[in-house]
Amino acid sequence: MFKVARLNPIASIGTDLFTGKYEMTENLAEASAVLVRSASMHELELPDGLLAIARAGAGVNNIPLDECAKKGIVVFNAPGANANGVKEMVLAGMLLAARDIYGGITWIRENKDEADIAKLAEKAKKNFAGTEIQGKTLGVIGLGAIGALVANASLNLGMRVMGYDPYISVEGAWSLDHHVQRVNNLDDIYANCDYITIHVPAMDGTIGMIDEAAIAKMKDGVVFLNFARDLLVKEEAMAAALESGKVHRYVSDFANPVSANMKNAIIFPHLAASTAESEDNCAVMAVRELMNYLEAGNIVNS
Ligand code: MLT
Repeated sequence: MFKVARLNPIASIGTDLFTGKYEMTENLAEASAVLVRSASMHELELPDGLLAIARAGAGVNNIPLDECAKKGIVVFNAPGANANGVKEMVLAGMLLAARDIYGGITWIRENKDEADIAKLAEKAKKNFAGTEIQGKTLGVIGLGAIGALVANASLNLGMRVMGYDPYISVEGAWSLDHHVQRVNNLDDIYANCDYITIHVPAMDGTIGMIDEAAIAKMKDGVVFLNFARDLLVKEEAMAAALESGKVHRYVSDFANPVSANMKNAIIFPHLAASTAESEDNCAVMAVRELMNYLEAGNIVNS
């Protein structure tokens, strides 16, 4: 019998997928495996009997990887399982930045008692006029599962798309539409793109990469989207760029006291992967990986 601890309520999705030799436990000390979503495990005492941790999502920065390596605990994630959910949120983010959809909705709520609807609509046309994303250039930094989906979908919205990823060979990016223009230099993205979206993990070399110097190379009035990790962006630099108008809008999935107070930012509370479909996909993948490992010793990080 394997005891599996689930570490945050959302990761309980999928626990019913365990069949046969499994029992769920709330007690980490007795667990042979852990199923976790985004709860941080850094402060937790990992028991000696722990064999594996499965992250029902892509990012593994909530897991103490060095300690796991020392203790021989195998760590799985669910790459790509929530990519479509994130892609759709990025597209929504671009459209929210281009059109003041939220402003319009809020304004109607605030003026709902105005009797003359035609007058209201007339005013709204002046206050909430936007721009279109068709014909604009999007830069995608990181062409893994999510970045590739965003790039392809944006082509279909009429955008010109440039992509940068030093780790993926031309052959490796098999799912990337050939109309996506691959560039070898990040500066080409900064210099040419009206919208820039980042899809890389937070690690040495990427943490803080969107800093004053990077922002200075971007086009004036750029829209920057971050649905990857908050650590990638130096928030003071972004706040200053929003204040000066260098960055027109910052769309981020990472709410904190700094980002929530930024002028012209659109901030979500880490919701991009929160769809029924993405959560199911992540849970199925994570549970399958754990069962495969615990029962057969197979390491399949799909
Ligand atoms: C991920 O890394 O895939 C996201 O953090 C997903 C989530 O919301 O758990």
